[in-house]
Amino acid sequence: MGQYERVEKLPKERLPRHVAIILDGNGRWAEEHGVSRSKGHLTGAENVETISDALIDMGISYLTVYAFSTENWKRSQEEVSYLMMLLKRYLIKNKKDAIRRNIRIRVLGDKSGLAPDLQALIADVEQSTAHLNSFYLQFAINYGGRDEIRRAVQRIAEEKISPNLITENVISDHLDTAGIPDPDLLIRTSGEERISNFLLWQLAYSEFYFSSKYWPDFTPQDLEEAILSYAGRQRRFGGRK
Ligand code: IPE
Ligand code: IPE
Ligand code: MG
Repeated sequence: MGQYERVEKLPKERLPRHVAIILDGNGRWAEEHGVSRSKGHLTGAENVETISDALIDMGISYLTVYAFSTENWKRSQEEVSYLMMLLKRYLIKNKKDAIRRNIRIRVLGDKSGLAPDLQALIADVEQSTAHLNSFYLQFAINYGGRDEIRRAVQRIAEEKISPNLITENVISDHLDTAGIPDPDLLIRTSGEERISNFLLWQLAYSEFYFSSKYWPDFTPQDLEEAILSYAGRQRRFGGRK
């Protein structure tokens, strides 16, 4: 038995296949510690690595993290630039590691709204890891659930798909998450209990778990609690035995 004994004891089918996380509370964590918001984001970014390693150790295959929303451009220019710098640094730093560990990295969101150097970096990391398949890591950057649906509808219209052929699968296949299973478990930290425009379509039947901890304080043990909570739930998908 490894580090996550309680999760490892669960029957495999009780584990979520895909965990999505709204990492929230970096700013409040910083305030509480009397440090800059940047320091909060830096500590938060480090925690993404800790938590994704824990999910890998638990045998979970997909992680999607909400890193920057279409609404986050409203923040100060200083904060936006710092967040963009952190994303760049993360991708540069983790590319080799992802290749070595067989991790596929993808970015969800409107990439055309990002700086050209970040776009190029994303394209490089996505291409270099496209064939990898032990773990799937998605970053939502310049992502909004409504914007994703808008872009999908736009492409469906451009492809002139006849209205009677537009099924739910056709819509799913035009979203940024095409080919990625819907999240089984959504975790949001910091005590806020809302979706904030994340994965509106894909979360239709996900289980939600809210933690009062700020993201930089959210530990692998907290993640374990979330997974155990998920394992105890009865998912019905509208049916009734
Ligand atoms: C989450 O932390 C990180 C991003 C949204 C990029 P926040 O920056 O939202 O932290 P709070 O909500 O202000 O505490
Ligand atoms: C959601 O967090 C976006 C990300 C985690 C990237 P916010 O902190 O931006 O959300 P609100 O403003 O509290 O809804
Ligand atoms: Mg927040």
